[in-house]
Amino acid sequence: MKFSIPKDFLWGGAVAAHQLEGAWQEGGKGPSIADVMTAGANGVSRQITKGIQADKYYPNHEAIDFYHHYPEDIKLFAEMGFKCFRTSIAWARIFPRGDEAEPNEAGLHFYDKLFAECHKYGIEPVITLSHFEIPYHLVEKYGGWRDRQLIDFFVHFATVVFKRYRHQVKYWMTFNEINNQTDYTERFLMATDSGLVLDDDDPQREALMYQAAHYELVASALAVKVGHQINPNFEIGCMINMTPLYPATSKPVDIFQAQKAMQRRYWFADVQALGTYPRHMEAFLAANNLRDDITAEDRITLREGTVDYIGFSYYNSMTVAAQKDNPEFHFVGPEAIQENPYLKASDWGWPIDPLGLRFALNWLEDHYHKPLMIVENGLGAKDEVTADKQIHDDYRIAYLKAHIQAMEDAIEKDGVPVIGYTPWGCIDLVSAGTGQMSKRYGFIYVDRDDQGNGTGKRLKKDSFYWYQKVIKTNGQDL
Ligand code: BG6
Repeated sequence: MKFSIPKDFLWGGAVAAHQLEGAWQEGGKGPSIADVMTAGANGVSRQITKGIQADKYYPNHEAIDFYHHYPEDIKLFAEMGFKCFRTSIAWARIFPRGDEAEPNEAGLHFYDKLFAECHKYGIEPVITLSHFEIPYHLVEKYGGWRDRQLIDFFVHFATVVFKRYRHQVKYWMTFNEINNQTDYTERFLMATDSGLVLDDDDPQREALMYQAAHYELVASALAVKVGHQINPNFEIGCMINMTPLYPATSKPVDIFQAQKAMQRRYWFADVQALGTYPRHMEAFLAANNLRDDITAEDRITLREGTVDYIGFSYYNSMTVAAQKDNPEFHFVGPEAIQENPYLKASDWGWPIDPLGLRFALNWLEDHYHKPLMIVENGLGAKDEVTADKQIHDDYRIAYLKAHIQAMEDAIEKDGVPVIGYTPWGCIDLVSAGTGQMSKRYGFIYVDRDDQGNGTGKRLKKDSFYWYQKVIKTNGQDL
């Protein structure tokens, strides 16, 4: 048996509707949570405003106007040799308010055209159903995923798009980075994952997060079941943010803290891949009186709706140390995180750790024994355009090269079954975390700045030609 990158490996790139489409009110689209997020900056959080405020700038409203530029952009992806293209279907294009019975035909038609354009070049769409873009009406009227009714709305949305695109789309994912909300002290993560817009000191934050996450997991499992009924050939995955948590030292308490932190971040994938809550979470939720509403029927649904593959993002690892005032090794996020002195960081402070990707791949294979797809990976960096319109992004090439090498080591030396690799933001787009355009990930540069100025013109970076070669040689020439 030979362990190597499969011939039909899904090389491609990844984006999300709200970060590139723009046209936030066109074709009958309703506002989503992303449409009430202002621009932040490096180290400055985005504000989530109550409705749209006239004096504020919302970068996702226009984004890079992919809605009108998609033929030109897909053509560039095809030129790089993409086998697949990961994007999301903006829920609020299909159901502008989220709770309607009938879908919006103009929204569905947009994705008919987009997927046809992909297939024209033999590019397989890989589709996320919910990528930080819950219809804003569901946030205002129902308080987001705290309300069980959201399960029905989501499953209705999933059913409509599964039926409509059953011959156009084979690879699906339910909720993007469903486990970001582990850190329930972060307003942004709670809003984007679950449509929970809460004050920083809301005493219910933790309880609401666990309840909302449970409803999402049930909705995800129901969607998997419905999807397989509509087309048994569908491959439907989960999508988790995979940030391995290393112990800061070899002190047993630090090692145990890291283990607890891994449990607290990745139980979501246990539920989606194995169909049941792990015992450590059952014990934790019971001891802390969290997640009141879980029914026997929910448990059956979770068992019946396990995913076909694990989609995950990998950008960096994190390092944790035990804290004196945390005897139960409770883990949320920032307060336990330490700097890792062995790693350099990006300009936005994200540690750069290619071996962490190999660690992540091994960890996921050990736990789930399912095919894995790396659906996000990349370096957010500032790019400069030279006088002759070149972008020499050797730093991005170095990052991606080292990560692809780590992936290939995992496939060849560790036997990990990886089916695809779609680096994040294959064309420059609006950063989710900061709302900036200047935090660029793309192989394709887009002339637009943090205030929304620019021609929108697309330029090929050096990494464009490099990635083209990587795909052409099926990862042999890095
Ligand atoms: C992931 C998200 O968290 O990371 C993307 O799925 C996001 O939506 C990406 O854009 C990179 O993060 P950021 O904050 O640099 O845009």
